[in-house]
Amino acid sequence: MVTAFEPAKLGPIELKNRIIKAATFEGRAPKGAVTQDLIDFHVAVAEGGIGMTTVAYLAVAPEGRTDRNCVLLSDTANLEGLQRLTASVHDAGAKISAQVGHSGPVGNSRSNHAPSLSPSGGRSPLGMVSQPATNEDLDRILLAFRQSARNAVEAGFDCIELHLGHGYLLSSFFSPKANTRTDHYGGNLEKRSLYPRKVVEAVREEIGDRIALTAKISMRDATKGGIELEHSIPTAQLLEQDGHLDALVLTAGSSLNNPMYLFRGKAPRKEFAETLPQPLKLGFKVVGRRFMPDYPYEEAYFLDMASEFRSALKMPLVLLGGISNAATIEQGLGAGFEFVAMGRALLAEPDLLLRYQDGTARESQCSHCNRCMVSIYTGTRCTESFSA
Ligand SMILES: Cc1cc2nc3c(=O)[nH]c(=O)nc-3n(C[C@H](O)[C@H](O)[C@H](O)COP(=O)(O)O)c2cc1C
Repeated sequence: MVTAFEPAKLGPIELKNRIIKAATFEGRAPKGAVTQDLIDFHVAVAEGGIGMTTVAYLAVAPEGRTDRNCVLLSDTANLEGLQRLTASVHDAGAKISAQVGHSGPVGNSRSNHAPSLSPSGGRSPLGMVSQPATNEDLDRILLAFRQSARNAVEAGFDCIELHLGHGYLLSSFFSPKANTRTDHYGGNLEKRSLYPRKVVEAVREEIGDRIALTAKISMRDATKGGIELEHSIPTAQLLEQDGHLDALVLTAGSSLNNPMYLFRGKAPRKEFAETLPQPLKLGFKVVGRRFMPDYPYEEAYFLDMASEFRSALKMPLVLLGGISNAATIEQGLGAGFEFVAMGRALLAEPDLLLRYQDGTARESQCSHCNRCMVSIYTGTRCTESFSA
């Protein structure tokens, strides 16, 4: 019987327990600079007893940032700040992972001063436009992933989590809707998965066995014509056969088309509309409810879907989505997942795991109001603040 608070191997590294802090964009890197505030955010989670914290979203290329307030990992100028971050988390007793990716069509081209890219170009429900990535773009981005992987090792990270989900660039390649390319990167499932698999292989080549490598992948993106389990399970099997990954983190939903599917709970439509610049704000009035419907929250809301992956794969899997209460952690591990990842529950109470361990708490106080989602522009936080 696997228990939550015992050490566990993740590829070449060992975590002191089986709980990972899921990436929640911190909003603490103005113009992409690592700040003490970003360090403090992760130290609080590390001191709260996590096995490994995840630094959310480090971009490999300027146009692959979600916006300009996102750290560019391929830029060696950021190494010193990232080294301070990893050292501080290590001192606080936890491992630290870097979520690495290219935002593709999710990138804010206006803020980035660079056009957003996607496999075949397109327009999102909120009117964000992306251009089709050329083969030169893709070669350049592959090299940027390599450089970023080297920098992650040099910065002292214990793990890289490649972002293969949520409609970001690599995830879009898997999608039959977003990827209509007619070259070697488009067509059947094998061809659509070719570019992301090349990236995974390249990153593993760069890091070797020095640190762990995981990937966060969308089981379905809940968009008409998009990724479904019939696509994502065989894709995961290809990734397993390739043998470069130490674990898959199972997510679902699309930041671009259906963000609430990822989170569940109350949709903060009014608060979100306030963050948009004028043309988008107007568009949001029309499509707001369709773009951000309420999906009722329940504990372990991805468990059924993820269990289909568990049956189809042998490699280690990380269960994510609605892991808040102590019993849900045990349920996930009992269902055969090697690790669980927690996002909002730890935003609300960074010290929650210590209280689960000493028996003074069994349940999270997070209400899933999801106002934390909107706080990413001003320093991500729980707006109800229970403990910190
Ligand atoms: C404020 C906030 C920011 C997030 N930012 C990211 C991100 O940068 N990258 C990512 O892959 N997921 C991001 N997520 C999604 C979480 O990693 C996680 O998949 C989701 O919150 C479900 O887990 P939970 O129920 O434990 O919160 C974010 C979630 C929240 C609440």
